[in-house]
Amino acid sequence: MASLHLLLAFLLVAASTVRADQDAFIGVNIGTDLSDMPHPTQVVALLKAQNIRHIRLYDADRGMLVALANTGIQVIVSVPNEQLLGIGQSNSTAAKWVSNNVVAHYPATNITGIAVGSEVLTALPNAAPVLVNALRFIHSALVASNLDRQIKVSTPLSSSIILDSFPPSQAFFNSSLNSVLVPMLSFLQSTGSYLMLNVYPYYDYMQSNGVIPLDYALFKPLLPTKEAVDANTLLHYTNVFDATVDAAYFAMAFLNFTNIPVVVTESGWPSKGDSNERDATVDNANTYNSNLIRHVLNKTGTPKHPGIAVSTYIYELYNEDTKPGPLSEKNWGLFDANGNPVYILHLTGSGLVLANDTTNQTYCAAKEGADQKMLQAALDWACGAGKVDCSPLMQGGPCYEPDTVMAHATYAFDTYYHQMGKAPGTCDFNGVAAITTSNPSHGSCIFSGSFGRNGTSVNVTAPSMNSTSSGSPLGLWRGGVSTSILLLIKSLALSALFL
Ligand SMILES: *[C@@H]1O[C@H](CO)[C@@H](O)[C@H](O)[C@H]1NC(C)=O
Ligand SMILES: *[C@@H]1O[C@H](CO)[C@@H](O)[C@H](O)[C@H]1NC(C)=O
Ligand SMILES: *[C@@H]1O[C@H](CO)[C@@H](O)[C@H](O)[C@H]1NC(C)=O
Ligand SMILES: *[C@@H]1O[C@H](CO)[C@@H](O)[C@H](O)[C@H]1NC(C)=O
Ligand SMILES: *[C@@H]1O[C@H](CO)[C@@H](O)[C@H](O)[C@H]1NC(C)=O
Ligand SMILES: *[C@@H]1O[C@H](CO)[C@@H](O)[C@H](O)[C@H]1NC(C)=O
Ligand SMILES: *[C@@H]1O[C@H](CO)[C@@H](O)[C@H](O)[C@H]1NC(C)=O
Ligand SMILES: *[C@@H]1O[C@H](CO)[C@@H](O)[C@H](O)[C@H]1NC(C)=O
Ligand SMILES: *[C@@H]1O[C@H](CO)[C@@H](O)[C@H](O)[C@H]1NC(C)=O
Ligand SMILES: *[C@@H]1O[C@H](CO)[C@@H](O)[C@H](O)[C@H]1NC(C)=O
Repeated sequence: MASLHLLLAFLLVAASTVRADQDAFIGVNIGTDLSDMPHPTQVVALLKAQNIRHIRLYDADRGMLVALANTGIQVIVSVPNEQLLGIGQSNSTAAKWVSNNVVAHYPATNITGIAVGSEVLTALPNAAPVLVNALRFIHSALVASNLDRQIKVSTPLSSSIILDSFPPSQAFFNSSLNSVLVPMLSFLQSTGSYLMLNVYPYYDYMQSNGVIPLDYALFKPLLPTKEAVDANTLLHYTNVFDATVDAAYFAMAFLNFTNIPVVVTESGWPSKGDSNERDATVDNANTYNSNLIRHVLNKTGTPKHPGIAVSTYIYELYNEDTKPGPLSEKNWGLFDANGNPVYILHLTGSGLVLANDTTNQTYCAAKEGADQKMLQAALDWACGAGKVDCSPLMQGGPCYEPDTVMAHATYAFDTYYHQMGKAPGTCDFNGVAAITTSNPSHGSCIFSGSFGRNGTSVNVTAPSMNSTSSGSPLGLWRGGVSTSILLLIKSLALSALFL
């Protein structure tokens, strides 16, 4: 009991020290492993159309940084893992990198952060010994250019280095990494930077063998009896994301770092997967990302730090069709290469980001299980007095199939609802209809209110991007390692002898 009190006292102290110094935001990661990577000007047009104000690049591609100039979009650039060893071993290499990739573009391009490497401790453990030096050298170069206050330096970590992450109060970092993590956290603390953390409830769920309920991973409401309670803190956890972020706060606290904020540099859900990835679906991806965006922008914070923003970069803008690995690896994107949304996020009321969330993109559909006679009566009314053109429902028409009262009623209800300007009460039909955000269009049967493919697409005829840096993002897929990385690891192992 005494120890619990001590723990609680300690927690209260810890809780008072992480401060919210800016509003929560949603950003988006931009991977470029696409066979037809859009030109930087097209990428930027999509970002603008979607009101995406924060992005992370996996490199410092000159074309992208030029296209981003004077847009006001805030950018995290990255030192690719391939360049880490050189930068971590030579402050002049680091200074050159900052000069070419940051100073050359700032302030026209609003670079606000530098991600040094990507999941280095887990993806490239042999580079771990130079990681902190790389952070310091990059930071020193920013100091020399008087940019260290505007531009923060950090390194994205995989949440898999946090062990025993539930209950969060007992989480700790894999202690064999402490020789890197302690100086790294000191660096983040002394430079006023933040912990970059990649949080993938999808993988936690997949690897849990059924222990983690899908709803808990997707932020769906849980019965209070199903909420996970941390027995030490009595905090209730309603989703994996919060539990993971709090595990990171606790793991830092156990190393005596209590004032370093967390920014989630990657989180998302794949919309398609192989046969053994049954929960990589459009519905789950939409549910996860929609709920994540609402959760972050609502400034709910986490149970440990309520109200403290956990800004988050969604993984990722585009589906990357040339990524190796399982099918899910190619399907984390919000958009395809043409800028068409893979799904329409359910973001009613969350406002500004992803403007083409089509907050108002609603349809009117017959309710599941509605009484057939009432449906038929409502359908007859819509096609008669309601003045809906029901000819597409005739045999041979585009909406004849499936020939069910339910499907035909949905077509007629939705058309009526849009004819009436979606006025309140126009999607009721004596209680057999309801508003939905799922587009009921199928095949050539296009429903009123649907975008078709026009909605968010930007000009796609321009030439594809001529990459100007060596840094296409790593062909890494979490849980596996590509051959180029294996080669790199081998060469690092060799050069490690000389460190
Ligand atoms: C690199 O470090 C050396 C030794 O600490 C120092 O003299 C030199 O000025 C540094 N160079 C740069 C570019 O920061
Ligand atoms: C970059 O964005 C930040 C946050 O909005 C803003 O405070 C800063 O003035 C911007 N810097 C430049 C150079 O535009
Ligand atoms: C901890 O990190 C070490 C070194 O990277 C690794 O070999 C070990 O498997 C990790 N332990 C766990 C439990 O993940
Ligand atoms: C954290 O601080 C406490 C009290 O100052 C100290 O006893 C403990 O050894 C420190 N822990 C670490 C990991 O540095
Ligand atoms: C947003 O937060 C408020 C209280 O802070 C809460 O009542 C509301 O349910 C939250 N909305 C969402 C969508 O999480
Ligand atoms: C949605 O995207 C289109 C095309 O890019 C754009 O014209 C429109 O303004 C956007 N809608 C909103 C609400 O931003
Ligand atoms: C959605 O509809 C509401 C009222 O119907 C309107 O105020 C708002 O501007 C619309 N939003 C968009 C993005 O069209
Ligand atoms: C797409 O745009 C074209 C031309 O602007 C228009 O004719 C067509 O009706 C649109 N399609 C949909 C589904 O909105
Ligand atoms: C798309 O871009 C090309 C080349 O920049 C231009 O010629 C063409 O007119 C554009 N098409 C549309 C529909 O904007
Ligand atoms: C791509 O770069 C190469 C070499 O710099 C150049 O010859 C070529 O014209 C570029 N292609 C495009 C489409 O810009």
